[in-house]
Amino acid sequence: MRAQANARTHMIRQLRNGRFEKSIAPDWDLAKHLFDESRHFFREHGLDADEAYAMAMTTSELLENAVKYGDWKRAPDELIGYVAEVEGRAVVVEVQSPVADDPGALRKLDDQIQWIRGFQSPFEAYVERLKILSSMGTRDGTSGLGLIRIAYEARALVDFYVTPSRRLAMSAVYQPAGLLT
Ligand SMILES: Nc1ncnc2c1ncn2[C@@H]1O[C@H](COP(=O)(O)OP(=O)(O)OP(=O)(O)O)[C@@H](O)[C@H]1O
Ligand SMILES: [Mg+2]
Repeated sequence: MRAQANARTHMIRQLRNGRFEKSIAPDWDLAKHLFDESRHFFREHGLDADEAYAMAMTTSELLENAVKYGDWKRAPDELIGYVAEVEGRAVVVEVQSPVADDPGALRKLDDQIQWIRGFQSPFEAYVERLKILSSMGTRDGTSGLGLIRIAYEARALVDFYVTPSRRLAMSAVYQPAGLLT
């Protein structure tokens, strides 16, 4: 009896392993379709509606960055690589795009990731960023909120690496609570 009650109150569940992969041209309209497709994938593999929405938002933010910051001049024929994966206790989104030959850009990306991690909770980073924005305005059209939203709203850990074929791989990893061991 007690075990049954606990199962109900703590919403114990299991994820279903699976992988969803797609390559798309760096076009914002194409990227938009992946919001719905990825949300469907996450629902089918055990995330609840809020979690699936948050990981679809993560998909959108990383794709938008790939379109905006990928070096499409150097590599006009390359595609954005997208992978969503549920494996064991982890839910992963990875987006790859051609990396610019600019150490300053990678440093800026790294700095932003470290800045977010420096706060006790990602919510504090979100509030701090909003304060900065309201004091300076968005002069260059980048608000710097995308990665913070992934950390705060999706509770996912953002990271990146550069592949030998000069692709930037951005990942977000989410570990749901309440899983059966
Ligand atoms: N794929 C990427 N390649 C290179 N730099 C990136 C990439 N993604 C993010 N960055 C760097 O990290 C910064 C933070 O990204 P983030 O998505 O949080 O904000 P933004 O894109 O500037 O604004 P917003 O997402 O709110 O429109 C960017 O301004 C950019 O300098
Ligand atoms: Mg962004």
